[in-house]
Amino acid sequence: MVFGTLSYPANPNRKPQRGKFGHAACHGRAQIRKLDRIGSSGDAVLPVPGRAFLLPTRLLFMNSEPEAPANHDDNRRTFLKQSSLLTALALVPGPVVSAAAAKLDERVAEAFEQVPVSLKVNGKKYKLNVEPRTTLLDLLRENLHLTGTKKGCDYGQCGACTVHVEGQRVNSCLSFAVMHDGKEITTIEGLSKGDDLHPMQEAFVKHDGFQCGYCTPGQIMSAVACVREGHAGSEAEIREYMSGNICRCGAYTNIVAAIQEVKNGGQKV
Ligand code: FES
Ligand code: FES
Repeated sequence: MVFGTLSYPANPNRKPQRGKFGHAACHGRAQIRKLDRIGSSGDAVLPVPGRAFLLPTRLLFMNSEPEAPANHDDNRRTFLKQSSLLTALALVPGPVVSAAAAKLDERVAEAFEQVPVSLKVNGKKYKLNVEPRTTLLDLLRENLHLTGTKKGCDYGQCGACTVHVEGQRVNSCLSFAVMHDGKEITTIEGLSKGDDLHPMQEAFVKHDGFQCGYCTPGQIMSAVACVREGHAGSEAEIREYMSGNICRCGAYTNIVAAIQEVKNGGQKV
């Protein structure tokens, strides 16, 4: 019983090579000894003992190392790929290449993506067009140049970016500007009245509540909110409710002392 004809090299000493289908290769080699070779072309007709042999033999031939003709095919394929690429490059017009280099598509997309936002920041009204992914922090620093609010981690972990939105403390790095359309924002710049410092700012100065000062705007905004919220009843409570504000300089003891003074002083914050 015969199931088909397979192309096979004329060299009768050639042995199939073992590939990753090792078992299939062994099985196939035993069967190949039984091949009936016909004609001078090297074609062989395989006797099929059963269905089980069909798959291993196919795997054996698929897995054998190709000789010279296969390499020729590879070279031809590589040549065709390279020549197609070169032709495509030669056909792209210059202006298209220049536009891509100038990121024109991104600029056009940016212009169409702008969203209008109205904010009241430190008592002043702003009407802006912003890209929808702009954070409140970036809007304050980059668009309004209110750089008192600091960018520390940009992941909501350090509290350096704390501002008040409608009186509530918010990590501005985690909040999109468009979410606050029509709202009132207060930053560290809006806390003092001209040259008169806010009581919390004065207490920080008095108690040495900072060293490098990078975390200080966020600490002060959080401290004011902490007192307003009624969470400054004890040192432990202050530490708990200020735990979202990290100070790399370790000025925590002095920060707590400043907050306690403001709380106990009964000043309006
Ligand atoms: S910069 Fe916003 S929490 Fe660190
Ligand atoms: S004062 Fe330096 S990080 Fe707080």
